[in-house]
Amino acid sequence: MTVSAEHFETFDLNLQLHLRYCRAEDVPKLEWGGMFSMDAYIIEKSFLRHLAGKNIMLVCEANNFPIAQVWIDLERHAADGAGFIWALRVLPGLRRLGIGTRLVAAAEALIAEHGFACAEISVETHNVRARQLYERLGYQQIGDDGDPPVEWSPEPEHLQPPHIIMRKQLTPGAECRIENVTGVQTH
Ligand SMILES: CC(C)(COP(=O)(O)OP(=O)(O)OC[C@H]1O[C@@H](n2cnc3c(N)ncnc32)[C@H](O)[C@@H]1OP(=O)(O)O)[C@@H](O)C(=O)NCCC(=O)NCCS
Repeated sequence: MTVSAEHFETFDLNLQLHLRYCRAEDVPKLEWGGMFSMDAYIIEKSFLRHLAGKNIMLVCEANNFPIAQVWIDLERHAADGAGFIWALRVLPGLRRLGIGTRLVAAAEALIAEHGFACAEISVETHNVRARQLYERLGYQQIGDDGDPPVEWSPEPEHLQPPHIIMRKQLTPGAECRIENVTGVQTH
């Protein structure tokens, strides 16, 4: 059956977005209807660490659904004075609207609130667009990631794609150490 294009319409939506802490009822929804089913155990484990105050999970909710998320590991590079931003993602179709930028800003505010001097992000080397976003937000590459945490991926460590480490100083004058980063750039 063919439908005449004159029946199609273009319309605007008034969509309210709400940035907040992740709740238990969000956990299954964060699999995004199958897109991240393979990460179900990571999401559950990370939520337990969220409840324990070790890994903050933020979601951006729209229409009762978490359409974006960012997590902050408060332990991974604590010895360096860095809060670690990871698992940043925005639902395809809602990208390039500024949601990712807002999530990173909220993550940075929480990292500073927890007393860290800098924020750190690990990005896959081939993810040029995400890297451009972080550069625009003031992050600089400081090294390679030779130590990806095992809970990131069910893949063995040697099968994980290469990453670079980027950092942004949040507190002027405060020191960010780099002892836990490999391939440190000296220029
Ligand atoms: C990276 C990501 C979180 C950015 O979220 P977002 O809401 O689109 O970000 P914003 O709208 O605030 O900023 C858009 C910027 O992101 C960058 N970007 C990242 N991926 C992009 C893509 N696939 N297409 C276009 N721009 C992209 C661009 O630099 C863009 O800047 P521009 O608008 O000036 O071109 C989102 O693209 C995403 O979920 N990607 C898949 C998961 C991912 O790669 N996460 C990062 C892991 S380190």
